[in-house]
Amino acid sequence: MPSLNDIRSTFLDYFARNGHRIVDSSSLVPRNDPTLMFTAAGMVQFKNLFTGVEHRDYTRATTAQKCVRAGGKHNDLDNVGYTARHHTFFEMLGNFSFGDYFKEQAIPLAWDLLTKEFGIDPDRLLVTVYHTDEEAVKIWKAHAGLPDERIIRIATDDNFWSAGPTGPCGPCTEIFYDHGDHIAGGPPGSPDEDGDRFIEIWNLVFMQYEQFEDGTRRDLPNQSIDTGMGLERIGALLQGKHDNYDTDILRALIEASAQATGTDPDGAGNIHHRVIADHLRSTSFLMADGVLPGNEGRGYVLRRIMRRAMRHAHLLGASDPLMHRLVPALVRQMGQPYPELVRAQAMIEDTLLTEETRFRQTLERGLRLLDDELAGLPAAAALPGPSAFKLYDTFGFPLDLTQDALREKGRSVDVAGFDAAMAAQKAKARASWAGSGETADAAIWFDLAERVGNTEFLGYETESAEGQILALVRDGTEVSEATAGQKVQIVVNQTPFYAEAGGQVGDTGQLTTASGRARITDTRKVGGVFIHFAEVTEGSVSRGAGAGLAVDHERRSLVRANHSATHLLNEALREVLGDHVAQRGSLNAPDRLRFDFSHNRALDADELDKIDARVNHFIRQNAPISTRLMTPDDARALGAQALFGEKYGDEVRVVSMGEADTGKGNNGRTWSIELCGGTHVAQTGDIGLFVITGDSASSAGVRRIEALTGAAAFAYLKGQDRALAESALALKASANDVPGRVRGLLDERRALQNEVAQLRRELAISGGRGSGAAEPAETVNGIAFVAQVLSGVSGKDLPSLVDTHKERLGSGAVLLIADTDGKAAVAAGVTSDLTDRVSAVDLVKSAVAAMGGKGGGGRADLAQGGAKDVSGADAAMSAARDILGAAS
Ligand code: SER
Repeated sequence: MPSLNDIRSTFLDYFARNGHRIVDSSSLVPRNDPTLMFTAAGMVQFKNLFTGVEHRDYTRATTAQKCVRAGGKHNDLDNVGYTARHHTFFEMLGNFSFGDYFKEQAIPLAWDLLTKEFGIDPDRLLVTVYHTDEEAVKIWKAHAGLPDERIIRIATDDNFWSAGPTGPCGPCTEIFYDHGDHIAGGPPGSPDEDGDRFIEIWNLVFMQYEQFEDGTRRDLPNQSIDTGMGLERIGALLQGKHDNYDTDILRALIEASAQATGTDPDGAGNIHHRVIADHLRSTSFLMADGVLPGNEGRGYVLRRIMRRAMRHAHLLGASDPLMHRLVPALVRQMGQPYPELVRAQAMIEDTLLTEETRFRQTLERGLRLLDDELAGLPAAAALPGPSAFKLYDTFGFPLDLTQDALREKGRSVDVAGFDAAMAAQKAKARASWAGSGETADAAIWFDLAERVGNTEFLGYETESAEGQILALVRDGTEVSEATAGQKVQIVVNQTPFYAEAGGQVGDTGQLTTASGRARITDTRKVGGVFIHFAEVTEGSVSRGAGAGLAVDHERRSLVRANHSATHLLNEALREVLGDHVAQRGSLNAPDRLRFDFSHNRALDADELDKIDARVNHFIRQNAPISTRLMTPDDARALGAQALFGEKYGDEVRVVSMGEADTGKGNNGRTWSIELCGGTHVAQTGDIGLFVITGDSASSAGVRRIEALTGAAAFAYLKGQDRALAESALALKASANDVPGRVRGLLDERRALQNEVAQLRRELAISGGRGSGAAEPAETVNGIAFVAQVLSGVSGKDLPSLVDTHKERLGSGAVLLIADTDGKAAVAAGVTSDLTDRVSAVDLVKSAVAAMGGKGGGGRADLAQGGAKDVSGADAAMSAARDILGAAS
């Protein structure tokens, strides 16, 4: 009996042998289709190849595609567990032709695989075709020899396939298997077609049109093929089972659930095991593709599925969280074809454990409340909307979980009442928000959030994706279109652009629609709405259009490296300076990073060196950087660094960086654990290099470190190196000797300066004669008087020069005027034997006044003052002579 893994390989190998490229499954989060919540068919990743927008180096492909049908248009969630063939997660096998072969080959390829490779009895197969598709009928007859009664013409949409309201589409032919008349049910198209006798196993779509929003349909440039066969269905058939849940992979998961709960896999709890097995697959695969539980969009669908499974685990009597314990069984079954499961295993287990632990805290109380409400209702009455809303709002019961719980009791929920209660709560939130004094400009974003919902961020996983333009805002007003040259703010339903937060700058890049292009110059957010600041560069962009969104990869990579380095710096600071270091602010820009932290003194060179060295050590470990989601309390218990005073929601992203486990007994070690919503490199080695370029005080008790990483750090160091080399060359020394030589030169310079000053003084005293003889004195009123204008002497040297003159004179008065940097400094001295006749203070004051200045002061034997310039020096000397002349 072939396993599902065997069947998957047989399928892919068969088409590879027939000229098809085996292409990996794409992510469950579609990047090229903004209208889809999850990838729900094999053709999703090829959508643009059918329409001719994109070309690849192959025209035939085959895939086993991961699919989730649990949200948006395709939603099988409610039926899972209760039926034989509904899943939230399944694999779709498919073969594709992009303008290569068409019906004439697609039908024979499918027929031969089923009847020859898989050995299915041809007599048990029958097909449907679109009622007008005579060509398909002819091929079926010719190649498979099917008689008319086993080719059923269907006129409905059942045989016309499209992925959504727009996009590639076409008529299809479906292959059915007849399980035999012992099972109830009629052939397709008959009134009892829903029975289980005739089961559809393969759908071959003849892609030939593209459907547009305005209802028109155009021929595709090339006729193409898209086929889809559920692996679980064909598996059930080939394994001789009638129920997909009896196929090997799902059976193994059901048994794992039974074993972990000590219950019978086929007993009363069988439905619970089926739900758990299915939901374990969808939740784990979604998380492996980057979706994490949340309160919005995809994250909320994931949480709904998780909680539904968790309630069934609770119904099985599991006293501890169960789901995370089943992940190893899933990895055993599916880790080989899907290695992303292995890579994400620890994160998936952690997240499931956190979610289940938290949900269990309210689950029982919620279920009790539900029972109490039901007890007060007439038999079979629907649960009133407000009660369902209370379960949702207070106990975290998604609506479909309540519906699932009621289904077992034959009851339903008043959904309109639930919606009304939800709308009333939103209105209340809006009213209290409007009253909080926010600016009118911000109000437009709140209204938008209400109308179009929060933006879904895809940028942890991808740098390019398609989104749908939901709103355009120009100068605070909504517009339906913006044209080339206009600046506009754009809101889309999902985006890879990071909106500025937590110190990380917003992304920039390009937005492209069918009618135009815009440059995104910044991204910010108000509440949950991401605002793309754009400038339309070509044509026009309009509301409702699908838009290709591409983040500037270079810039984002630089930002990422800087952000990760900031975490490492935070850790290194704590190691080197102490645990008191706490983040006070940060900037993670493409060209630099900045980190403010509490510390009340400057860092010395040793400390800076140690910090630099430590960060670079972390980088060289090239350790993985991982992200998990948990409650703020759990994160703190783990030792996560959180911003003090920051408000966190129900769950936080926790980014950890650590030493890789070498497998040689070191077991790895996590150095840095931080709450962080930013984007990071995958491995610390991606940072490349780290260098501190500045350390300064930011405010009282807060230091600021500035640093560079990667190529910028290298360029900085090279620049320093070059400057050193140039200095060495100029000094004719080796680089290592430069500091010693510079110190020596400085000492020498200081000595020379002293010598020059001394010589200047001597020169000044000698009146510039160079003979060493003193300036001759004149005699005024019997007092020897020396008056001199000096240049190249600084004001502070004047007092000692005055003293020198006084010494030489023995008895007398001195007036010196120095021309220093265009200003005049004045000093006067009187030998002590004369101070009772004349005061130096009077000499200075009269001189300064004569030079047009004011003031001057000191003692009777030595006084100083200053004036604007030396142009009045002669007048100053005369004024001094007058004072001396008037002396008693
Ligand atoms: N797109 C078609 C389907 O999902 C065939 O692959 O059924």
